Amino acid sequence: MRVRVRSGVPGAALRVLEAAGLEAEVGALELDGCDALLCLLTDRIDDALLAAAPRLRIVANMAVGTDNVDLAAARARNVAVSNTPDVLTDATADLTWALLLATARRLAWGDRYVRGGGFTGWHPELGIGADVTGRTLGIVGPGRIGRAVAERARGFRMEVLLHGRSSTGLPLDELLERSDFVSLHLPLSPETRHLIGERELRRMRPPAILVNTARGPIVDEAALVRALREGWIAGAGLDVFEREPALAPGLAELPQVVLAPHVGSATTATRDRMAELAAESIVAALAGKPIPRRVA
Ligand code: GLV
Repeated sequence: MRVRVRSGVPGAALRVLEAAGLEAEVGALELDGCDALLCLLTDRIDDALLAAAPRLRIVANMAVGTDNVDLAAARARNVAVSNTPDVLTDATADLTWALLLATARRLAWGDRYVRGGGFTGWHPELGIGADVTGRTLGIVGPGRIGRAVAERARGFRMEVLLHGRSSTGLPLDELLERSDFVSLHLPLSPETRHLIGERELRRMRPPAILVNTARGPIVDEAALVRALREGWIAGAGLDVFEREPALAPGLAELPQVVLAPHVGSATTATRDRMAELAAESIVAALAGKPIPRRVA
């Protein structure tokens, strides 16, 4: 059995595979003759790639999101697909809060200001940000991560509004109109691409802040730049981008955004568990057993 593991996957995956008697070939996205693939969210797994890998039985994606994989093509070619939910819920919810607080209280600006030598003395109007405690948080996508973000809001005595795609909670427009903070926790799909565009950004309140730790293309990034420039909303905390790793023109110049390089699940323990889960799905698939966390 040949298992291809993409370069960069934590060694924890290799230990799981080894324990099951499987030897991993670590390297590029080349599937010639492979029975299993452990891939990254930056790998595009499309029909052409699958067509060139007739022995492939499973694609184990080291991510909870599977928008990088053509699930219909995988189904049609009888290739199973698995993901790594649950183990990254808390780390991603924590990062969401880090971005929300950093944006509200202008921490990235403050860091640049102090390092740049701008801090020459305290002033009552220096670095004024937005209140968080007691305000309203709108969660778009109340799944595992969305609910974990909502749970943390209790400590800030916030009112939490929810909107889910399957008519859960409030209509999206009402949530946008009533929230001081809007946080996105949806998978990327044709239905959620540009869910937040000009129309939705204009519905938000001018002092509102948008946080996105889900997938970049859920937001129309060019419209977001306009919204921030023209003050339709006050700020944004972004861990993901529409054309990652590229940024929409003008985004990086805006002082009221806090940017992170897609690090929602980036803690050592979380990334190790993700790698292990992906490897465990491969072990099961190659042993002909039911595949845990199978999504296709
Ligand atoms: C990260 O973005 C993931 O989907 O796991």
